[in-house]
Amino acid sequence: MLITEFRSNYKKYGTIDTKSDFILCPKSAHETSDECELWVTDPPYADSVNYEEITEFFISWLRKDPPAPFDKWTWDSRRVLAIKGDGEDFRRGMVDAYSAMTHHMPDNGLQCVMFTHQDTGVWADMVSIFWAAGLQVVSAWYIATETTSELKQGGYVQGTVTLLLRKRLDTAATFKQRLLPQIRKEVTAQIEAMMNLNDAAQTHGETVFNDSDLQMAGYAAALKVLTRYTEVDGRDVTTLALQPRQKGQKTVVDDIVEYSSEVANNLLIPDRLKALNPDTWSQITGVERFYLRMAAIEKTGAAKLDNYQNFAKAFHIDYQPLMASLKPNQAKLKSAKQFKPRELTSGDLASTLLSELLMAIQELLNDKDPKVVLGQIRTSLDDTYFQKRQHLIAMAHYLAEMWARARPEEAQKAEIIGDRIRNEGMGG
Ligand SMILES: C[S@@+](CC[C@H](N)C(=O)[O-])C[C@H]1O[C@@H](n2cnc3c(N)ncnc32)[C@H](O)[C@@H]1O
Repeated sequence: MLITEFRSNYKKYGTIDTKSDFILCPKSAHETSDECELWVTDPPYADSVNYEEITEFFISWLRKDPPAPFDKWTWDSRRVLAIKGDGEDFRRGMVDAYSAMTHHMPDNGLQCVMFTHQDTGVWADMVSIFWAAGLQVVSAWYIATETTSELKQGGYVQGTVTLLLRKRLDTAATFKQRLLPQIRKEVTAQIEAMMNLNDAAQTHGETVFNDSDLQMAGYAAALKVLTRYTEVDGRDVTTLALQPRQKGQKTVVDDIVEYSSEVANNLLIPDRLKALNPDTWSQITGVERFYLRMAAIEKTGAAKLDNYQNFAKAFHIDYQPLMASLKPNQAKLKSAKQFKPRELTSGDLASTLLSELLMAIQELLNDKDPKVVLGQIRTSLDDTYFQKRQHLIAMAHYLAEMWARARPEEAQKAEIIGDRIRNEGMGG
Protein backbone atom coordinates (compact mmCIF):
# COMPACT_ATOMS: atom_id res chain seq x y z
CA MET A 1 0.00 0.00 0.00
CA LEU A 2 1.40 3.40 -0.96
CA ILE A 3 0.68 6.52 1.09
CA THR A 4 1.32 10.04 -0.19
CA GLU A 5 0.90 13.20 1.86
CA PHE A 6 0.95 16.93 1.24
CA ARG A 7 4.37 18.13 2.31
CA SER A 8 4.76 20.95 4.82
CA ASN A 9 8.15 21.26 6.36
CA TYR A 10 11.15 19.05 6.42
CA LYS A 11 12.31 19.03 9.97
CA LYS A 12 9.36 16.96 11.19
CA TYR A 13 10.49 13.85 9.31
CA GLY A 14 14.07 13.48 10.50
CA THR A 15 15.51 10.79 8.25
CA ILE A 16 13.41 9.06 5.57
CA ASP A 17 13.55 5.27 5.38
CA THR A 18 13.67 4.90 1.56
CA LYS A 19 13.03 1.14 1.80
CA SER A 20 9.53 1.73 3.20
CA ASP A 21 6.40 2.36 1.15
CA PHE A 22 6.33 5.94 2.44
CA ILE A 23 6.81 8.27 -0.56
CA LEU A 24 7.01 12.05 -0.11
CA CYS A 25 5.61 14.02 -3.04
CA PRO A 26 7.92 16.81 -4.27
CA LYS A 27 5.40 17.88 -6.88
CA SER A 28 1.96 19.48 -6.80
CA ALA A 29 -0.85 17.15 -5.87
CA HIS A 30 -2.63 17.74 -9.19
CA GLU A 31 0.44 16.36 -11.00
CA THR A 32 0.40 13.09 -9.12
CA SER A 33 0.83 9.91 -11.16
CA ASP A 34 1.22 7.36 -8.36
CA GLU A 35 -1.57 4.80 -7.86
CA CYS A 36 -2.58 4.68 -4.20
CA GLU A 37 -5.14 2.72 -2.19
CA LEU A 38 -5.15 5.33 0.54
CA TRP A 39 -4.45 9.05 0.11
CA VAL A 40 -3.91 10.97 3.33
CA THR A 41 -4.11 14.72 2.85
CA ASP A 42 -4.01 17.75 5.05
CA PRO A 43 -4.69 20.46 2.49
CA PRO A 44 -4.33 24.21 2.91
CA TYR A 45 -7.30 25.54 4.90
CA ALA A 46 -8.35 28.17 2.38
CA ASP A 47 -6.85 31.52 3.45
CA SER A 48 -6.05 30.58 7.07
CA VAL A 49 -2.28 30.10 6.74
CA ASN A 50 0.23 31.13 4.01
CA TYR A 51 2.16 27.86 4.04
CA GLU A 52 4.41 28.79 1.16
CA GLU A 53 5.76 31.70 3.22
CA ILE A 54 6.36 29.42 6.24
CA THR A 55 8.08 26.88 3.98
CA GLU A 56 10.38 29.61 2.62
CA PHE A 57 11.34 30.46 6.18
CA PHE A 58 12.49 26.88 6.76
CA ILE A 59 14.16 26.69 3.35
CA SER A 60 16.28 29.77 4.08
CA TRP A 61 17.43 28.02 7.22
CA LEU A 62 17.81 24.38 6.12
CA ARG A 63 19.21 24.63 2.60
CA LYS A 64 22.62 25.79 3.76
CA ASP A 65 23.81 22.25 4.64
CA PRO A 66 20.98 19.75 4.33
CA PRO A 67 21.76 16.16 5.41
CA ALA A 68 21.21 13.26 2.98
CA PRO A 69 18.85 12.52 1.36
CA PHE A 70 17.64 16.14 1.55
CA ASP A 71 20.83 17.37 -0.19
CA LYS A 72 19.33 16.01 -3.41
CA TRP A 73 16.21 18.08 -2.96
CA THR A 74 15.15 21.16 -4.99
CA TRP A 75 15.09 23.86 -2.30
CA ASP A 76 12.12 25.83 -3.61
CA SER A 77 8.69 26.38 -1.97
CA ARG A 78 7.07 26.03 -5.38
CA ARG A 79 4.97 29.02 -4.48
CA VAL A 80 3.41 29.04 -7.98
CA LEU A 81 2.00 25.55 -7.49
CA ALA A 82 0.65 26.25 -4.02
CA ILE A 83 -3.12 26.09 -3.55
CA LYS A 84 -3.92 29.27 -1.66
CA GLY A 85 -6.46 32.02 -1.09
CA ASP A 86 -10.17 31.35 -0.50
CA GLY A 87 -11.78 32.20 -3.83
CA GLU A 88 -11.91 30.59 -7.23
CA ASP A 89 -8.17 29.80 -7.13
CA PHE A 90 -8.59 27.75 -3.98
CA ARG A 91 -11.62 25.87 -5.35
CA ARG A 92 -10.00 25.24 -8.73
CA GLY A 93 -6.68 24.14 -7.18
CA MET A 94 -8.39 21.79 -4.75
CA VAL A 95 -10.65 20.29 -7.45
CA ASP A 96 -7.59 19.58 -9.63
CA ALA A 97 -5.68 18.05 -6.71
CA TYR A 98 -8.50 15.81 -5.45
CA SER A 99 -9.58 14.80 -8.95
CA ALA A 100 -6.00 13.72 -9.67
CA MET A 101 -5.87 11.60 -6.52
CA THR A 102 -9.33 10.13 -7.22
CA HIS A 103 -8.19 9.14 -10.71
CA HIS A 104 -5.16 7.45 -9.17
CA MET A 105 -6.96 5.20 -6.71
CA PRO A 106 -8.87 1.91 -7.15
CA ASP A 107 -12.67 1.87 -6.84
CA ASN A 108 -12.35 0.49 -3.31
CA GLY A 109 -9.67 3.07 -2.44
CA LEU A 110 -9.97 5.58 0.37
CA GLN A 111 -9.08 9.20 0.94
CA CYS A 112 -8.55 10.65 4.40
CA VAL A 113 -8.77 14.45 4.54
CA MET A 114 -8.09 16.64 7.57
CA PHE A 115 -9.73 20.05 7.36
CA THR A 116 -10.68 22.91 9.63
CA HIS A 117 -12.30 26.28 8.98
CA GLN A 118 -15.05 28.27 10.69
CA ASP A 119 -16.57 29.85 7.60
CA THR A 120 -19.74 28.28 6.13
CA GLY A 121 -18.67 29.52 2.67
CA VAL A 122 -15.45 27.51 2.81
CA TRP A 123 -17.38 24.38 3.84
CA ALA A 124 -19.75 24.96 0.93
CA ASP A 125 -16.63 25.04 -1.27
CA MET A 126 -15.45 21.73 0.22
CA VAL A 127 -18.78 20.17 -0.86
CA SER A 128 -18.23 21.47 -4.40
CA ILE A 129 -14.60 20.30 -4.39
CA PHE A 130 -15.51 16.73 -3.41
CA TRP A 131 -18.52 16.74 -5.74
CA ALA A 132 -16.34 17.84 -8.65
CA ALA A 133 -13.61 15.32 -7.75
CA GLY A 134 -16.17 12.48 -7.77
CA LEU A 135 -15.81 11.79 -4.06
CA GLN A 136 -18.32 10.96 -1.31
CA VAL A 137 -17.77 11.60 2.40
CA VAL A 138 -18.50 8.30 4.17
CA SER A 139 -17.34 9.26 7.69
CA ALA A 140 -16.57 12.43 9.56
CA TRP A 141 -14.95 12.72 12.95
CA TYR A 142 -14.21 15.82 14.88
CA ILE A 143 -10.89 15.38 16.69
CA ALA A 144 -9.92 17.77 19.46
CA THR A 145 -6.30 18.58 18.67
CA GLU A 146 -5.70 21.67 20.79
CA THR A 147 -5.48 20.69 24.45
CA THR A 148 -3.59 23.64 25.90
CA SER A 149 -5.70 25.90 28.09
CA GLU A 150 -4.63 29.16 26.36
CA LEU A 151 -6.31 28.13 23.11
CA LYS A 152 -9.39 26.98 25.03
CA GLN A 153 -9.77 30.55 26.31
CA GLY A 154 -9.82 32.23 22.90
CA GLY A 155 -13.01 30.67 21.52
CA TYR A 156 -10.77 29.24 18.84
CA VAL A 157 -11.71 25.93 17.26
CA GLN A 158 -10.02 23.21 19.24
CA GLY A 159 -9.84 20.60 16.60
CA THR A 160 -9.85 19.30 13.08
CA VAL A 161 -12.45 17.45 11.10
CA THR A 162 -11.16 14.15 9.72
CA LEU A 163 -13.13 13.00 6.70
CA LEU A 164 -13.01 9.59 5.06
CA LEU A 165 -14.02 9.59 1.42
CA ARG A 166 -14.64 7.01 -1.29
CA LYS A 167 -15.16 7.31 -5.03
CA ARG A 168 -18.82 8.15 -5.74
CA LEU A 169 -19.58 5.19 -7.99
CA ASP A 170 -23.39 5.33 -8.10
CA THR A 171 -25.62 8.10 -9.35
CA ALA A 172 -28.27 9.44 -6.98
CA ALA A 173 -30.72 12.30 -7.49
CA THR A 174 -32.62 14.30 -4.87
CA PHE A 175 -34.27 17.63 -4.14
CA LYS A 176 -33.20 20.31 -1.70
CA GLN A 177 -36.49 19.86 0.18
CA ARG A 178 -35.73 16.14 0.63
CA LEU A 179 -32.16 16.87 1.74
CA LEU A 180 -33.05 19.14 4.67
CA PRO A 181 -34.54 16.45 6.96
CA GLN A 182 -31.54 14.20 6.23
CA ILE A 183 -29.19 17.05 7.10
CA ARG A 184 -31.09 17.73 10.31
CA LYS A 185 -30.85 14.04 11.30
CA GLU A 186 -27.11 13.78 10.49
CA VAL A 187 -26.16 17.10 12.16
CA THR A 188 -28.23 16.28 15.27
CA ALA A 189 -26.63 12.82 15.56
CA GLN A 190 -23.11 14.29 15.17
CA ILE A 191 -23.61 17.09 17.69
CA GLU A 192 -25.40 14.97 20.26
CA ALA A 193 -22.55 12.43 20.09
CA MET A 194 -20.05 15.21 20.78
CA MET A 195 -22.19 16.77 23.53
CA ASN A 196 -22.29 13.37 25.24
CA LEU A 197 -18.50 13.37 25.10
CA ASN A 198 -18.58 16.84 26.63
CA ASP A 199 -20.93 15.70 29.39
CA ALA A 200 -18.63 12.72 30.08
CA ALA A 201 -15.59 15.05 30.17
CA GLN A 202 -17.55 17.50 32.36
CA THR A 203 -17.21 14.98 35.18
CA HIS A 204 -13.49 15.86 35.03
CA GLY A 205 -14.40 19.54 35.23
CA GLU A 206 -13.85 20.55 31.62
CA THR A 207 -15.44 20.19 28.21
CA VAL A 208 -13.71 18.85 25.12
CA PHE A 209 -15.53 20.79 22.43
CA ASN A 210 -16.63 24.42 22.46
CA ASP A 211 -19.48 25.89 20.44
CA SER A 212 -17.29 26.67 17.41
CA ASP A 213 -16.18 23.01 17.35
CA LEU A 214 -19.76 21.74 17.53
CA GLN A 215 -20.79 24.11 14.78
CA MET A 216 -17.96 22.96 12.54
CA ALA A 217 -18.84 19.33 13.17
CA GLY A 218 -22.31 20.24 11.92
CA TYR A 219 -20.82 21.32 8.60
CA ALA A 220 -18.92 18.04 8.25
CA ALA A 221 -22.14 16.12 8.88
CA ALA A 222 -23.79 18.10 6.07
CA LEU A 223 -20.97 17.03 3.73
CA LYS A 224 -21.78 13.37 4.42
CA VAL A 225 -25.36 13.87 3.24
CA LEU A 226 -24.67 16.20 0.30
CA THR A 227 -21.83 14.23 -1.30
CA ARG A 228 -24.09 11.13 -1.52
CA TYR A 229 -25.86 12.75 -4.47
CA THR A 230 -24.94 13.37 -8.10
CA GLU A 231 -28.01 15.48 -8.87
CA VAL A 232 -29.86 18.10 -6.78
CA ASP A 233 -33.08 19.77 -8.01
CA GLY A 234 -32.45 18.26 -11.45
CA ARG A 235 -28.98 19.79 -11.70
CA ASP A 236 -25.78 17.75 -12.08
CA VAL A 237 -23.62 18.43 -9.00
CA THR A 238 -20.30 18.38 -10.85
CA THR A 239 -21.49 21.17 -13.18
CA LEU A 240 -22.89 23.00 -10.17
CA ALA A 241 -19.57 22.57 -8.36
CA LEU A 242 -17.45 23.90 -11.21
CA GLN A 243 -19.59 26.96 -11.77
CA PRO A 244 -17.56 30.05 -10.76
CA ARG A 245 -19.08 31.76 -7.76
CA GLN A 246 -20.91 35.02 -8.56
CA LYS A 247 -20.11 37.68 -5.93
CA GLY A 248 -22.99 37.89 -3.42
CA GLN A 249 -24.87 35.03 -5.10
CA LYS A 250 -25.77 32.07 -2.87
CA THR A 251 -25.74 28.55 -4.30
CA VAL A 252 -27.98 25.66 -3.23
CA VAL A 253 -24.90 24.31 -1.40
CA ASP A 254 -24.48 27.57 0.56
CA ASP A 255 -28.12 27.38 1.60
CA ILE A 256 -27.77 23.80 2.75
CA VAL A 257 -24.50 24.31 4.65
CA GLU A 258 -26.01 27.37 6.34
CA TYR A 259 -29.06 25.29 7.15
CA SER A 260 -26.79 22.73 8.82
CA SER A 261 -25.20 25.49 10.85
CA GLU A 262 -28.66 26.70 11.88
CA VAL A 263 -29.58 23.17 12.96
CA ALA A 264 -26.32 23.01 14.91
CA ASN A 265 -26.98 26.35 16.59
CA ASN A 266 -30.51 25.48 17.54
CA LEU A 267 -29.05 22.47 19.33
CA LEU A 268 -26.36 24.49 21.05
CA ILE A 269 -28.44 26.04 23.80
CA PRO A 270 -25.94 27.69 26.16
CA ASP A 271 -25.54 24.95 28.71
CA ARG A 272 -23.85 27.10 31.27
CA LEU A 273 -27.19 28.05 32.78
CA LYS A 274 -29.79 25.36 32.61
CA ALA A 275 -32.15 28.22 33.62
CA LEU A 276 -32.16 29.27 29.98
CA ASN A 277 -34.45 26.38 29.27
CA PRO A 278 -35.04 25.11 25.71
CA ASP A 279 -38.54 26.63 25.83
CA THR A 280 -37.12 30.14 26.34
CA TRP A 281 -34.49 29.46 23.65
CA SER A 282 -37.22 28.41 21.20
CA GLN A 283 -39.36 31.50 22.00
CA ILE A 284 -36.76 34.22 21.50
CA THR A 285 -35.63 35.80 18.23
CA GLY A 286 -32.37 35.33 16.30
CA VAL A 287 -30.94 38.64 17.56
CA GLU A 288 -31.70 37.68 21.18
CA ARG A 289 -30.13 34.23 20.73
CA PHE A 290 -27.05 35.83 19.18
CA TYR A 291 -26.67 38.30 22.07
CA LEU A 292 -27.14 35.62 24.75
CA ARG A 293 -24.88 33.16 22.96
CA MET A 294 -22.08 35.70 22.52
CA ALA A 295 -22.48 36.79 26.16
CA ALA A 296 -21.68 33.16 27.08
CA ILE A 297 -18.66 33.09 24.75
CA GLU A 298 -17.45 36.46 26.10
CA LYS A 299 -17.62 34.99 29.62
CA THR A 300 -14.83 32.57 28.56
CA GLY A 301 -12.68 35.58 27.67
CA ALA A 302 -13.07 35.01 23.91
CA ALA A 303 -12.90 38.20 21.79
CA LYS A 304 -12.38 36.95 18.23
CA LEU A 305 -14.49 38.87 15.71
CA ASP A 306 -14.73 35.65 13.63
CA ASN A 307 -16.94 34.12 16.28
CA TYR A 308 -19.43 36.99 16.09
CA GLN A 309 -19.44 36.87 12.30
CA ASN A 310 -20.02 33.10 12.21
CA PHE A 311 -22.79 33.10 14.79
CA ALA A 312 -24.39 36.15 13.13
CA LYS A 313 -24.50 34.14 9.89
CA ALA A 314 -25.92 31.16 11.73
CA PHE A 315 -28.66 33.31 13.29
CA HIS A 316 -29.16 35.36 10.11
CA ILE A 317 -28.79 38.72 11.84
CA ASP A 318 -26.88 42.00 11.34
CA TYR A 319 -24.65 41.92 14.41
CA GLN A 320 -22.85 45.25 14.01
CA PRO A 321 -25.48 47.43 15.80
CA LEU A 322 -25.00 45.18 18.88
CA MET A 323 -21.24 45.62 19.04
CA ALA A 324 -19.24 47.92 21.31
CA SER A 325 -15.99 46.91 19.54
CA LEU A 326 -15.38 45.37 16.10
CA LYS A 327 -11.62 45.04 16.55
CA PRO A 328 -10.50 41.59 15.17
CA ASN A 329 -9.25 40.19 18.50
CA GLN A 330 -10.99 42.62 20.88
CA ALA A 331 -14.53 42.28 19.66
CA LYS A 332 -17.21 42.93 22.28
CA LEU A 333 -20.98 43.23 22.64
CA LYS A 334 -22.53 46.48 23.85
CA SER A 335 -23.54 46.14 27.49
CA ALA A 336 -26.91 47.40 28.70
CA LYS A 337 -25.62 50.88 29.47
CA GLN A 338 -23.82 51.23 26.13
CA PHE A 339 -27.02 51.01 24.06
CA LYS A 340 -28.62 54.34 23.10
CA PRO A 341 -32.35 54.30 23.91
CA ARG A 342 -33.30 54.47 20.19
CA GLU A 343 -31.07 51.43 19.49
CA LEU A 344 -33.27 49.44 21.88
CA THR A 345 -36.54 50.58 20.33
CA SER A 346 -35.65 50.28 16.62
CA GLY A 347 -34.01 47.70 14.35
CA ASP A 348 -33.89 43.98 15.21
CA LEU A 349 -34.00 44.61 18.95
CA ALA A 350 -37.28 46.55 18.85
CA SER A 351 -40.11 44.90 20.86
CA THR A 352 -37.94 42.02 22.01
CA LEU A 353 -37.78 40.75 25.60
CA LEU A 354 -34.05 41.44 25.52
CA SER A 355 -34.62 45.15 24.78
CA GLU A 356 -37.14 45.29 27.68
CA LEU A 357 -34.46 43.85 29.94
CA LEU A 358 -31.65 46.10 28.71
CA MET A 359 -33.88 49.18 29.08
CA ALA A 360 -34.87 48.09 32.61
CA ILE A 361 -31.20 47.62 33.58
CA GLN A 362 -30.39 51.09 32.22
CA GLU A 363 -33.20 52.59 34.32
CA LEU A 364 -32.10 50.83 37.49
CA LEU A 365 -28.55 52.08 36.83
CA ASN A 366 -30.11 55.58 36.76
CA ASP A 367 -31.58 54.84 40.22
CA LYS A 368 -35.16 54.53 39.05
CA ASP A 369 -37.49 52.77 41.52
CA PRO A 370 -37.61 49.04 40.64
CA LYS A 371 -41.40 49.01 41.21
CA VAL A 372 -41.78 51.70 38.51
CA VAL A 373 -39.43 49.86 36.16
CA LEU A 374 -41.37 46.60 36.56
CA GLY A 375 -44.62 48.49 35.99
CA GLN A 376 -43.22 49.80 32.71
CA ILE A 377 -42.30 46.28 31.54
CA ARG A 378 -45.81 45.06 32.39
CA THR A 379 -47.38 47.97 30.48
CA SER A 380 -45.10 47.51 27.52
CA LEU A 381 -45.77 43.76 27.22
CA ASP A 382 -49.42 44.31 28.05
CA ASP A 383 -51.50 41.09 27.83
CA THR A 384 -48.49 38.98 26.82
CA TYR A 385 -46.72 39.78 30.10
CA PHE A 386 -47.83 36.74 32.10
CA GLN A 387 -47.02 34.31 29.33
CA LYS A 388 -43.57 35.90 28.83
CA ARG A 389 -42.51 36.60 32.42
CA GLN A 390 -40.79 33.18 32.87
CA HIS A 391 -38.59 33.95 29.83
CA LEU A 392 -37.79 37.42 31.27
CA ILE A 393 -36.76 35.78 34.56
CA ALA A 394 -34.58 33.20 32.76
CA MET A 395 -32.87 35.80 30.54
CA ALA A 396 -32.33 38.26 33.44
CA HIS A 397 -30.71 35.59 35.63
CA TYR A 398 -28.72 34.33 32.65
CA LEU A 399 -27.27 37.81 31.92
CA ALA A 400 -26.59 38.27 35.64
CA GLU A 401 -24.46 35.13 35.59
CA MET A 402 -22.73 35.91 32.27
CA TRP A 403 -21.80 39.45 33.43
CA ALA A 404 -21.01 38.62 37.06
CA ARG A 405 -17.25 39.03 36.57
CA ALA A 406 -16.90 41.46 33.65
CA ARG A 407 -19.84 43.80 34.39
CA PRO A 408 -20.79 43.33 38.09
CA GLU A 409 -22.90 46.51 38.31
CA GLU A 410 -25.12 45.54 35.35
CA ALA A 411 -25.17 41.91 36.52
CA GLN A 412 -26.52 43.00 39.88
CA LYS A 413 -29.31 45.04 38.20
CA ALA A 414 -30.20 42.09 35.97
CA GLU A 415 -30.39 39.89 39.09
CA ILE A 416 -32.72 42.42 40.77
CA ILE A 417 -35.08 42.43 37.77
CA GLY A 418 -35.11 38.62 37.57
CA ASP A 419 -35.79 38.27 41.31
CA ARG A 420 -38.47 40.97 41.37
CA ILE A 421 -40.40 39.48 38.47
CA ARG A 422 -40.11 36.01 40.07
CA ASN A 423 -41.20 37.24 43.48
CA GLU A 424 -43.93 39.64 42.35
CA GLY A 425 -47.27 38.84 43.88
CA MET A 426 -45.41 37.63 46.97
CA GLY A 427 -45.10 41.28 48.09
CA GLY A 428 -41.59 41.29 46.32
C1 LIG B 1 -2.31 22.19 6.34
S1 LIG B 1 -0.72 22.19 5.60
C2 LIG B 1 -0.12 20.61 5.93
C3 LIG B 1 0.43 20.56 7.32
C4 LIG B 1 1.14 19.23 7.62
N1 LIG B 1 0.24 18.11 7.57
C5 LIG B 1 1.70 19.35 9.00
O1 LIG B 1 1.08 18.75 9.88
O2 LIG B 1 2.72 20.03 9.14
C6 LIG B 1 -1.06 22.17 3.90
C7 LIG B 1 0.19 21.97 3.04
O3 LIG B 1 -0.22 21.82 1.68
C8 LIG B 1 0.84 22.33 0.87
N2 LIG B 1 0.33 22.58 -0.48
C9 LIG B 1 -0.26 23.70 -0.97
N3 LIG B 1 -0.56 23.56 -2.25
C10 LIG B 1 -0.13 22.31 -2.61
C11 LIG B 1 -0.17 21.57 -3.82
N4 LIG B 1 -0.69 22.07 -4.92
N5 LIG B 1 0.35 20.31 -3.83
C12 LIG B 1 0.89 19.77 -2.72
N6 LIG B 1 0.95 20.43 -1.51
C13 LIG B 1 0.44 21.68 -1.49
C14 LIG B 1 1.25 23.59 1.61
O4 LIG B 1 2.53 23.96 1.26
C15 LIG B 1 1.16 23.12 3.07
O5 LIG B 1 2.39 22.66 3.51
